[in-house]
Amino acid sequence: METRIISAKDGIDEAASLILSGELVVFPTETVYGLGANAFNEEAVKKIFVAKGRPQDNPLIVHISTLEQVRDIAVDIPEVFYELANKFMPGPITLILKKSNNIPSVVTAGGDTVGIRMPSNEWARKLIEKSAPLAAPSANRSKHISPTTAKHVYDDLKGEIPLILDDGACKVGIESTVLDLTSETPTILRPGAITAEMLVEVLGEVLENGKVIKIAKAPGMKYTHYAPKVKTVCAISIDHAVAEYDKVKNEGLHPVIVARDIYRDVVCERDQISLGVTIEDYSRNIYAALHTAEENFDYIIVEQLDNKGLAGSIMNRVEKASGGLKV
Ligand code: TXA
Ligand code: MG
Repeated sequence: METRIISAKDGIDEAASLILSGELVVFPTETVYGLGANAFNEEAVKKIFVAKGRPQDNPLIVHISTLEQVRDIAVDIPEVFYELANKFMPGPITLILKKSNNIPSVVTAGGDTVGIRMPSNEWARKLIEKSAPLAAPSANRSKHISPTTAKHVYDDLKGEIPLILDDGACKVGIESTVLDLTSETPTILRPGAITAEMLVEVLGEVLENGKVIKIAKAPGMKYTHYAPKVKTVCAISIDHAVAEYDKVKNEGLHPVIVARDIYRDVVCERDQISLGVTIEDYSRNIYAALHTAEENFDYIIVEQLDNKGLAGSIMNRVEKASGGLKV
């Protein structure tokens, strides 16, 4: 199959007809690019698992463009869903609800819950408006790094999909926060740009006795996700990064340090891929940096951040990329 990249503006109508005829389309979101199929079409959704090589037991998120659509997708919707939706949607958050029978079980990997997300990218929402709610995972081969540009998708999935809608680099750069609203206490299954601190503000008003959010694991998190094709480690300080660089260089490897510009002077003449300046820059740039690093180097050393808020969500991904390896 020939894979075409087309600007979101020019390709939106063709993309909508592909979705309506049961085909897959890659579309931009503010987090990462998604590989979408009509969420109500079982045969179409099955194609996602084939294209990605995704395990059948890993459920997909359903993407919506208006809150009314939720009633076709979920049942027993709690009031707190609307409170969170009013505050954080559209935006980088996925809320888990009880699934409606309208949604084929292939979407939810046989489970009785469904993830719902309203992306803030205007082309994502326009595509849904013109076609249907979209079941979509990140548009990468299973276990590889998530794509934050159309080219990342093309390099990973060419030949498997007909069309990629291009809207440049994703603004947030790491996947949405996944929050389970079906458990007794709302539970973060995957950290993201909407942080626990932000959620507690809303949920605190809803929950009695000031119960706190618990961090657990999403089903998909048990796989080594987001992993580059070459060895990747996380350096606990920039001095450790530099020492590791020099050590593996001596062993004949071709390493690179992935770090923010504040460390340029320490990294010196060694190869560095910049993550920008702020934590938000780091989030936006990390996957693109890992893509570039795996293409041009054979050993990746990544700057560590602390574990609070957005920095903590980013470190969750870096830990996945490095398989927990620290130097
Ligand atoms: O930002 C994002 O969420 C991106 C964009 C494309 O929207 N999507 C994304 O999808 O990251 P995916 O499939 O790569 O990751 C979805 C995660 C997986 O860890 C999956 O296990 C979890 O969400 N998940 C999905 N549905 C779930 C459910 N019903 N219950 C628990 N976890 C669920
Ligand atoms: Mg993914």
